[in-house]
Amino acid sequence: MAIPDSGKIFPRIGDDTIVYLKNVVTNPNIEVGDFTFYNDFVNDPRDFEKNNVLYHYPINHDRLQIGKFCSIACGTKFLFNSANHAMRSLSTYPFPIFYDEWEHGMQVDQAWDNKGDIVVGNDVWIGFEAVILAGVTIGDGAIVGARAVVTKDVPPYIIVGGVPARPIRKRFSEQTVEALLAMQWWNLPPEEILERIRFLQSGNLEALRAMTGTPEG
Ligand SMILES: CC(C)(COP(=O)(O)OP(=O)(O)OC[C@H]1O[C@@H](n2cnc3c(N)ncnc32)[C@H](O)[C@@H]1OP(=O)(O)O)[C@@H](O)C(=O)NCCC(=O)NCCS
Repeated sequence: MAIPDSGKIFPRIGDDTIVYLKNVVTNPNIEVGDFTFYNDFVNDPRDFEKNNVLYHYPINHDRLQIGKFCSIACGTKFLFNSANHAMRSLSTYPFPIFYDEWEHGMQVDQAWDNKGDIVVGNDVWIGFEAVILAGVTIGDGAIVGARAVVTKDVPPYIIVGGVPARPIRKRFSEQTVEALLAMQWWNLPPEEILERIRFLQSGNLEALRAMTGTPEG
């Protein structure tokens, strides 16, 4: 049996709407883990950096970090800090952006409020046209509902939805979440994941745990 290969751009034969994201990203401030995919049936999914990572300018040094085995649906947007015009100023007008006009009067570092990096864990599913704002961390195994606007951190294995996104429910019991977080199956080599897929899919935590050598909690 062939070992899954995260080095491809298009993992599905004959389907150019799905890419393994890490192989199309070039910006050093964007990091994506193995097997995380992005699906886009409107635009070319290879243009993820341009169409989906917005207001992300090098001057801020803010980073987008996405883990392994995430599913990112069409139209998801990551909104970075340059979208946040400075609210502590007496004006929200971004003078430094119009450098040629206002060069003498401006302070570049005060053009926007810097809320920090966006961090997405492993095995996160982000629904259609969700918006993730600067400074947000989404935990492993979380689900973001279609068209959610995520303004706050999302704990692992929680489903959120709405504007602003609020918890809808927990996916599993606390014990199961602890076991999955301890196991970190996404860090296993693909051939070992291949052996465990039937247990991942059927929800057989005990078999998965036995194979992975994680003690019962
Ligand atoms: C978030 C989601 C996973 C929840 O699924 P679920 O657990 O089966 O949720 P339910 O349908 O049982 O709904 C539970 C509650 O959440 C609400 N809800 C569900 N999806 C929501 C969403 N996207 N935004 C806001 N609220 C949502 C429901 O209205 C319901 O509210 P209530 O308890 O007040 O009646 C699903 O609705 C969703 O958005 N999936 C994303 C699909 C998608 O975008 N796919 C892209 C291709 S990968």
